[in-house]
Amino acid sequence: MKQLSPDAVRPIGLFDSGEGGLTVARAVADLLPREHLVYACDTAHFPYGPRPLAEVRAFFLRFMEFFAEQNCKLVIVACNTATAAAMDLLTADAFAIPALGVVQPGAVTAAKVSATGRIGVAATQGTCDSGIYPRTIRQLRPDAVVVQQACPILVIRAEEGVISGPEVRSEVERCLAPILAERVDTLVLGCTHFPHMATVIQEVVGPAVRLVDPGKATAAQVADLLRARGLLNPGPAPGRRRAFTTGDPGRFLEVAGRLWPGGIDAAVHIRL
Ligand code: DGL
Repeated sequence: MKQLSPDAVRPIGLFDSGEGGLTVARAVADLLPREHLVYACDTAHFPYGPRPLAEVRAFFLRFMEFFAEQNCKLVIVACNTATAAAMDLLTADAFAIPALGVVQPGAVTAAKVSATGRIGVAATQGTCDSGIYPRTIRQLRPDAVVVQQACPILVIRAEEGVISGPEVRSEVERCLAPILAERVDTLVLGCTHFPHMATVIQEVVGPAVRLVDPGKATAAQVADLLRARGLLNPGPAPGRRRAFTTGDPGRFLEVAGRLWPGGIDAAVHIRL
């Protein structure tokens, strides 16, 4: 019988500023229901979007130490802003634990699925200013025209757990109007908070625009990577899914329960 690595039962770590990375956790849980998840978020410093990237990078590095203490076998940077802030470290494989961000998988998918090469990116101010999406997409597809738009109000709404209704719809319309005016055929949800409101976003952009959720592409990459290294958890599903927040765990769990019913088992406060 094939010997199973004891490392396989270790949890996967996921990091975000708040509730946004739950969209990535959910995609991972859908694909890999046996995996234990350690979801850690920096609610005390939310939102990351308006902050200097150097500050976001420093916050993220503290969480990497936390994930090491939690004995994680892999870390997913389930935040585009933090991915942009630490891209050089992620690319250089600079951590003791393998870590990957959401931008590369999202950019690869967008470059592949767009028929016209006109691609929109809705993200935070920090992600837009970093230029990481246009740069990565054009490396893969030099003819691409990439139009970016920061949508901070949508980050706030998703963090409140408000993801539908007429007010959100008109906010989505206002945020996306400049991108839609550029006749894109593909829209990258370049902030992990946005897939929470994918239904409203798809209604607003219409059926001709293809939505790309980088979290889903990342989950597929994680499944491939763990499989290739013999690190898939062979235990019974569902795995344990615990959350850690620098904010109020009760509030986190209440909103998480609305965004992803039954997704998170427990939430605990951490001071980092
Ligand atoms: N969800 C995060 C992202 O993907 C950060 C949002 C924020 O804190 O501003 O960029």
